[in-house]
Amino acid sequence: KETKDQLVIDAGQKHFGATMCRSCGMIYTASSPEDELQHVQHHHRFLEGIKYAGWKKERVVAEFWDGKIVLVLSHDPSYAIRKVEDVQELVDYELGFQQVVPRCPNKTKTFLFISDEKKVVGCLIAEPIKQAFRVLSEPTGPESPSSKECHRAWQCSDVPEPAICGISRIWVFRLKRRKRIARRLVDTLRNCFMFGCFLSTNEIAFSDPTPDGKLFATKYCNT
Ligand code: ACO
Ligand code: ZN
Repeated sequence: KETKDQLVIDAGQKHFGATMCRSCGMIYTASSPEDELQHVQHHHRFLEGIKYAGWKKERVVAEFWDGKIVLVLSHDPSYAIRKVEDVQELVDYELGFQQVVPRCPNKTKTFLFISDEKKVVGCLIAEPIKQAFRVLSEPTGPESPSSKECHRAWQCSDVPEPAICGISRIWVFRLKRRKRIARRLVDTLRNCFMFGCFLSTNEIAFSDPTPDGKLFATKYCNT
């Protein structure tokens, strides 16, 4: 049914009809040729990027009724690394990140949530860290003086706290959100990051979270 795809997006004062593609999840204005062209280009690239054919040697670290989590390490075969790079490119594009070089590329661990439709629908990239700065719960006024690092609406404490694992990216396919995929990725990370121990939420840190990321992290760490 067409009507199911119609969304109304509140963009300030104006309301306009928008369509969400049921395959790639992109929201666009179907009546705008520019938007449609952008969608066609994104659609193909995105679906190619998240396609997961299955690997001969894959490191399955968790299994669920609706999918599984595969761990990719930096020394894995090039087909695995290439898939991780493709997915990261899509994630970075969505997050608006510029090229971010990992601090210890050989210690990066990537967790992919593979749906039973053979698609990468979730991705978590983690790296070892030594310290983190706590996000202060109440954002201060927009004009308040803040460190040059602070380009988000909230502020961080300037007191470093010890941490072990940094989550540099966490992402779930738009059409699969709020199904506890992110939660399961972080649970699995805590279980697999260091051999033989389950990391506490104090030992993991989310780097530069987006508003979505902050909502998720707050909820995750309090439950
Ligand atoms: N708004 C409010 N609460 C939320 C949201 C949200 N957008 N997302 C998650 N939560 C809370 C909810 O309480 C949720 O439980 P509930 O659904 O039972 O209420 C709980 O967190 C667990 O959520 P999950 O279902 O596990 O989260 P999901 O699989 O939807 O993924 C994520 C969350 C990764 C933030 C997703 O929204 C996403 O990919 N967003 C776009 C990319 C992004 O911003 N990523 C974070 C970047 S920060 C970083 O990478 C370090
Ligand atoms: Zn599409």
